[in-house]
Amino acid sequence: MRIALLGFGSVGQGIARALREKDLGISITGIADSRSGLIAPGGIDIDAALAQKRELGYCGDPSVRPMDVALLAEYDALVEVTPTDVITGEPALTHIRAALGRGRHVVTSNKGPIALAYDDLIAEAESRHVSLRYEATVCGAIPIIHALQEGLAGNRVKRLSGVLNGTCNYILTRMSDEGLTYEQALMEARELGYAEADPTYDVKGIDAAIKLVILANTILHMDKALDDVQITGIDLLTPDALRLAEEQEMTIRLIGEIIPDEDILRVSPRIIGKAHPLVVEGTLNAVTVDTDMAGEITFIGKGAGSVETASAIIGDLLFIRDRYVTGT
Ligand code: HSE
Repeated sequence: MRIALLGFGSVGQGIARALREKDLGISITGIADSRSGLIAPGGIDIDAALAQKRELGYCGDPSVRPMDVALLAEYDALVEVTPTDVITGEPALTHIRAALGRGRHVVTSNKGPIALAYDDLIAEAESRHVSLRYEATVCGAIPIIHALQEGLAGNRVKRLSGVLNGTCNYILTRMSDEGLTYEQALMEARELGYAEADPTYDVKGIDAAIKLVILANTILHMDKALDDVQITGIDLLTPDALRLAEEQEMTIRLIGEIIPDEDILRVSPRIIGKAHPLVVEGTLNAVTVDTDMAGEITFIGKGAGSVETASAIIGDLLFIRDRYVTGT
């Protein structure tokens, strides 16, 4: 199986490293970051691309653009992991449309296009008999979309609530456990590659809200936009608020919630007991799904990070390889 990889930041490099180490029969025939690109029908030299990125700050030839790779490289699936833009979905939306237009599968961690244009994109994919998969958009390594679509198929979801943003959870944990200031904790989260390229998406609750929109629209058959989500972030939370919660054996977590029957989507910091299943540490995410048949199920796992996101992307790629791509 051949892939083209658009986006060579923390997630893109994690995917490249994992593919190099695991020998899954997946070769990369095109890569691009925002400043350069490379097309190699026989397969990209991943070590050389990683070394160049480290040394020069870009991975390929500056005269090759990401769209050149999307349109001209030979691949079975486009992996779109460029930074998210929630207002326009670009440039990812154009990359994804280009790949689907060529009848290629698409796997993405990019939340913008899925939150903004899922119906259009999936219709285009279906008309061309290719797959569009987006497990990595929600909760990093936790296969929540797969679980909801397949494992819990036939269940009615009464409520979904959880910690959906690893960066905020990391900040809250470091502030309450280590007494770090908000700014120090955010800087750490950025350095570790957890935060979005624009970290205001994380701390203002926008990233968690986009994940709710994706789950609502693609799994729960709702028709929602970011504006439909009631959002309060953690950016105005003071160390005093955390300390007051601690004094009562409670803590604060940024919780996202969908209640389909009440048409509610909301994200806000909540004071909750330390023994609550959604109180997880660091960049962990936790999601409780309350369903009519299976009852309550809580998923806990790494919600952000290079390798963790690569796990979800590679799971989607192997799903496609095993169902659609022959000769690998
Ligand atoms: N910035 C996101 C987070 C990355 O911290 O959860 C994963 O979507």
